[in-house]
Amino acid sequence: MRTYSAILVSGGAGFIGSNFIRYLLGPESGFQGLVVNVDALSYAGNLDNLSDLAAGLGGTRYFFERADICDRAAVEDIVARYRIDAVCHLAAESHVDRSIMGPEAFVRTNVLGTFTLLDVVRQAWRGRDGVWFHQVSTDEVYGTLGPSGSFSEASPYAPRSPYSASKAAADHLVMAYHHSYGLPVSVSNCGNNYGPRQFPEKLVPLMILNMLEGKRLPVYGDGRQVRDWLYVDDHARAVWAIMRGGRPGHSYVVGGGNERENLSLVERLADIVAEETGAGAELYRGLITLVPDRPGHDRRYALDSGKIRRELGWEPRMEFDRGLRETVRWYLDNPAWIERVRSGEYRRWLDSNYGWRQGGKA
Ligand SMILES: NC(=O)c1ccc[n+]([C@@H]2O[C@H](COP(=O)([O-])OP(=O)(O)OC[C@H]3O[C@@H](n4cnc5c(N)ncnc54)[C@H](O)[C@@H]3O)[C@@H](O)[C@H]2O)c1
Repeated sequence: MRTYSAILVSGGAGFIGSNFIRYLLGPESGFQGLVVNVDALSYAGNLDNLSDLAAGLGGTRYFFERADICDRAAVEDIVARYRIDAVCHLAAESHVDRSIMGPEAFVRTNVLGTFTLLDVVRQAWRGRDGVWFHQVSTDEVYGTLGPSGSFSEASPYAPRSPYSASKAAADHLVMAYHHSYGLPVSVSNCGNNYGPRQFPEKLVPLMILNMLEGKRLPVYGDGRQVRDWLYVDDHARAVWAIMRGGRPGHSYVVGGGNERENLSLVERLADIVAEETGAGAELYRGLITLVPDRPGHDRRYALDSGKIRRELGWEPRMEFDRGLRETVRWYLDNPAWIERVRSGEYRRWLDSNYGWRQGGKA
């Protein structure tokens, strides 16, 4: 099993990145080195996601650097200063709807940013052993499925939104750096993540918060689109398993094995929120409203995770209904997090406390 002394986690203030960092620094991972969180703190980046690290869990092993991954000089400086020997790359523009409205930011961060990170480490790591670059990607690069079948590592790339196209381009660059320069790399393509600390523009938190505010629950089209849901902590374990034992130049599909139609997911969430708040079950279901479909909306994703299960012994642990309930409880238990994200208070605090390139321990 590989191990590292200093891991750069890009996008560590986001939903998956913050949960991954917490996992890395927790007891289960066995990781003993430094974690350097490099995040531009875009609208989706939230240092509140890591407040428990600032409160002591991270000890002296957690560092935060506010930097844009497209800023080559900043990335070079960080890689050299911390003697980074592994990268887990999560920083991205990640919301499909936003990519349809404004694709440029997606090409910039997801393609140029990935290129910049890759190229900096290619030069910094020349002749060095024991280094690794892991790219966190999505099942959306494979396009859409009919009613049967599932995506695997052998599926052709066929992205259909600017978001998935930019992630596909990034994945290709990562593999090209392996084949052209010998960089040890891996890619994971996972399904829809859910869990605590997800920015409330994505389906699960948006629905929970709308229910709590009595707002309608907008579901695209006929609500029959199928997604394969993965609990964020199961994803963190998968990424770490690949970084430690995955084969260089290989990709791994990571699915939770929880295929659900969007409408039935929202109905189940409505029931759980009703149970947890003591409201009548029909109250929240009654807020569900079908709205015109997203252009190019992929119909169905399903994932065959056989490779990571066979090669690395990974499997999801979280049972879907329990994961949904824990997620609902987290949002019910953290009104201050929600208020700060939504009111703009967090952005004001950020602007007055964190200038650009103001590195150091968070
Ligand atoms: N959320 C999912 O369901 C899902 C599924 C599959 C793959 N992924 C992938 O996982 C990764 C993380 O997703 P997420 O849901 O946590 O996203 P997120 O939007 O919650 O977080 C993204 C983070 O990247 C940071 N960032 C954005 N642009 C940056 C830049 N130019 N430089 C530095 N930092 C920047 C943001 O500030 C934010 O903290 C992404 O690469 C995404 O494509 C997500």
